[in-house]
Amino acid sequence: MTLDEGKKRELAARAEEMLRRSYVPYSGFSVGAALLCKNGEIFTGCNIENASYPATNCAERTAIFKAVSEGFTEFTAIAVVGGFKRRIESFCPPCGVCRQVMAEFCDPETFQVILANAEGELRTMALKELLPMSFTPDHLQRE
Ligand code: THU
Repeated sequence: MTLDEGKKRELAARAEEMLRRSYVPYSGFSVGAALLCKNGEIFTGCNIENASYPATNCAERTAIFKAVSEGFTEFTAIAVVGGFKRRIESFCPPCGVCRQVMAEFCDPETFQVILANAEGELRTMALKELLPMSFTPDHLQRE
């Protein structure tokens, strides 16, 4: 399913709203995400940092974990935005850990990752472009 421009912009706007919720006392870099479920529901997330830095949770994983914990595991797309001072700056691509979490639940061919920058430009990529040859639940299937 290809998302139309309006839906992508709606998701990017929902992601941008989350920049104000980010908890970023250490990096000052805010990230917001909006995850579209196959049934149309949207879950949002922000990054949540920690004094023990590795305990930080990225915005994308916050959104995905919120959705999964509420019983939603089928997803169509995620919009991600980020920048300092709670403003969108340049494109903010998902980190490797978040790509791996996407690979757990999302179809590599059809799941779309939407990025937006300060100029209002959008970039959309399939998950397989961001995480080629990924390790997925299929690899743990015994014969
Ligand atoms: N961050 C995200 O929330 N998502 C990403 O995919 C990249 C990085 C956050 C983590 C940390 O709070 C800040 O950005 C700087 O690394």
